[in-house]
Amino acid sequence: MLGSPCLLWLLAVTSLVPTAEPLTPQDFEEEEEDETAWPPFPAVLCDYDRCRHLQLPCQELQRASPTPCLCPGLSSPALRPEQPRLGEVRVVAEAGLAVVHWCAPSSPVQEYWLLLWEGSGAPQKGPSLNSTVRRAELKGLKPGGAYVVCVVAANAAGESSVPWADGKGIEGADGPAFGPCGRLTVPPRPQTLVHAAVGVGTALALMSCAALVWHFFLRRRWGCPRRTATRPATGL
Ligand SMILES: *[C@@H]1O[C@H](CO)[C@@H](O)[C@H](O)[C@H]1NC(C)=O
Repeated sequence: MLGSPCLLWLLAVTSLVPTAEPLTPQDFEEEEEDETAWPPFPAVLCDYDRCRHLQLPCQELQRASPTPCLCPGLSSPALRPEQPRLGEVRVVAEAGLAVVHWCAPSSPVQEYWLLLWEGSGAPQKGPSLNSTVRRAELKGLKPGGAYVVCVVAANAAGESSVPWADGKGIEGADGPAFGPCGRLTVPPRPQTLVHAAVGVGTALALMSCAALVWHFFLRRRWGCPRRTATRPATGL
């Protein structure tokens, strides 16, 4: 029978409860010495991971779970959420996109969105993402571009704060290591590097030609230019 061990266990718990007395400092000392004095408690955590993509809210897991489980504590729904924590940001340079991961704050959240800054311009706000989402793509990133990305959580009471959205710009600012924001740089495309190399090579070749022309033609003809001397106007 499945029910009988549970019943016995419940009886054991309930029979312990009436004997409980107000704790005195001596009681604390005794209990610290003898840890088995604590009544057994179903300290099973719900299968909830605040960083897992498409993670149902823990309260929903609790409701659906056949056995009782524990959820991490949350701040009040009457307060705006705490900051989510930005996780891995993976840049796919060839596709001009970045995959951004984050972890939920210890707050009730209704939606998330991303903010993206390029340089010191105004932030672009991404689409609204439901509370189960922990991963999103940023598209249309420019090769060689440098960006700042922040994740914002919102509920009925407001939205989480963003350290760089204070109007002072993002240049030179560095957020806390485990904050909602991070920097991302897109490497230049390989073909851009080839173009740059060709460009630099062409420029060097032109400069060499110019130097040779100056040396062998103009210099020989006009002599070395002196600071005080005006150039002789030679009629051709
Ligand atoms: C939340 O968004 C994700 C991704 O768009 C989607 O797969 C999921 O069904 C949505 N969940 C709810 C509860 O709307």
